[in-house]
Amino acid sequence: MVISNKVVVVGLGYVGLPLALLAERKGHKVTGVDTDQSKIDLLKNKKTPFTDEMVTDFLPASKIELTTEFSCVKNSEIIIICVPTPVYENHLPNLELVINASTKVAEQLQKGQLIILESTVNPEVSESVVLPILEEVSGLKGGTDFYLAHAPERINPGDPKWNVENINRVVGSFESVGLEKAVAFYESILTGTVKRMGSLKEAEAVKVVENSFRDINIAFVNELARSFTRLGIDIVNVIDGAATKPFAFMAHYPGCGVGGHCIPVDPYYLIEHAKKKGFDHDFLSLARRINNDMPHFTVERVIEGLNDVKMAINGSVVTVLGVSYKANIDDCRESPSFEIIKLLKAKGAEVRIYDPFVERESNVTDLESALKGANAVVLATAHKEFKTISPETYTKAGVKVMVDGRNALPKNEIEKAGIIYKGIGR
Ligand SMILES: NC(=O)c1ccc[n+]([C@@H]2O[C@H](COP(=O)([O-])OP(=O)(O)OC[C@H]3O[C@@H](n4cnc5c(N)ncnc54)[C@H](O)[C@@H]3O)[C@@H](O)[C@H]2O)c1
Repeated sequence: MVISNKVVVVGLGYVGLPLALLAERKGHKVTGVDTDQSKIDLLKNKKTPFTDEMVTDFLPASKIELTTEFSCVKNSEIIIICVPTPVYENHLPNLELVINASTKVAEQLQKGQLIILESTVNPEVSESVVLPILEEVSGLKGGTDFYLAHAPERINPGDPKWNVENINRVVGSFESVGLEKAVAFYESILTGTVKRMGSLKEAEAVKVVENSFRDINIAFVNELARSFTRLGIDIVNVIDGAATKPFAFMAHYPGCGVGGHCIPVDPYYLIEHAKKKGFDHDFLSLARRINNDMPHFTVERVIEGLNDVKMAINGSVVTVLGVSYKANIDDCRESPSFEIIKLLKAKGAEVRIYDPFVERESNVTDLESALKGANAVVLATAHKEFKTISPETYTKAGVKVMVDGRNALPKNEIEKAGIIYKGIGR
C-alpha cells in the first residue's frame, strides 16, 4: 500500500533537505520550513546550499513548497523536526533551536498529527522538553490528540555508499499508535530497515551511543598515535595489520582532530545529562579531551619538522590545506583546522589557508599561491585534490616540511623528494 502523507520538514540542512527530497520522491506531499530566509531563497532558485550528491540530483526537479512560515503545519499529517543541536562554548547542550521549533510547531498543532524529532538529543529530551511544549502551547494531549516519535538521523554527508534512503533507522515513541505511524512513514521512504525501540529515550540513546562509540575509538587510536610517535612505530601499518583479524577489531584511524556537527558534540549531550542524574562518564570525557587536543599535537609536529630543518615556527610560512572537517565536503562545523590555524598564528607563523570546497575561509585563491614559498604544509583535510599533489610540486614551491594530519599522503615518496614528513603517529 502506498501511503501519501502531507509532510512538513522543519530545518532544511544536511539532514532535513535530503529527507524532504526523499519523502517527495516516495510520493508524499512535502513542505520545507526554515527560519533562514536566504536558504529558502537559494532553494527556490534551485541552488544547493551545501555539497550533497542527492540534493544536487533531485533539487532541480523538486516541487517541494518552501517557506519560512509555520502555518503550513496546520494542514499536514506528519511534522519532522531536523534543527541543529549544538553545544555552547562550555560544552553544555544547547537546545534553544529544538525548543524554538517545537514551540512554533505547537502553535499550529492539530488533532491526529504526528511529530517526529530527528535532531540528535540526549535521552529524555523528547519526553521532558518537546512533549511538554507541544502539550502546553497547543492545549492538546500527547498520545491521544497527537503523537510524538523520535527517529534519530544517521546520515553521513559525502558517503558514497550510505545515504538518507538506505541507512537503517530506529524509531521510538511513548505509545504504540504514534510508534506505528512513524514506522509506517519510514518504511514508505526507506530501502533500509526500521527498528522499533522500546521508548523515546531508548531511541535517543541509540544515536548518542553510536557517536560516542566512534569518539572513543578515535580517541584510542589518537592516543596510540602519540605514543607510537615516541616508539617509532607506524600506527597506520599497525591498524592495517590488526584489521586483518576477521572479528572483534574495527579499524579507526588517528588524525589532526575530530570535527563535524555530530561526533565532537553528541557525547557532551550524554555526559551532561548523566551528570545531572549523578553519574560521571569518565571514559567519554577523557575521549573528548584527547580528541580536542589533537590540533595541539599537530602543531607540535610542525614545530618538530621545522626544527629538523633548523627553522623556528616564529616567522615561518605555514600553509594549511583544508578547512572542512572531512574530505570532499564544504561543512566546516567544529573543524579542527580552525584550532590548528589559531595555534600556528599564536606561535608567530604566517598562515596561508586553502580549501577548494570552502572559498569563504581561504585566504589564497589557488594551490599555487598557497604553496609558493611555504616552509611547511599541514594537510588538515584529505580532499581528493590534495591527495594527488606530487612531491615535486612541493619541492618546486620550496616546501621543507609536510605534516600529514590525515595520514593520507605517500610518506616514502615525500621523504624521497627530500621533504621532512611527519604524520599523526607515523
Ligand atoms: N550533519 C550531519 O551529518 C548529521 C547527521 C546525523 C544527524 N544530525 C543531526 O541532525 C540535526 C540537524 O543537523 P544538520 O546538520 O542538518 O543542521 P544544519 O545546520 O545543516 O541545518 C539545520 C537547518 O535548520 C534551520 N533552523 C534552525 N532553527 C530553526 C527553527 N527554529 N525552525 C526552522 N528551521 C530552523 C537552519 O536555518 C538550518 O537550515 C542535528 O541535531 C544534528 O546533530 C546531523
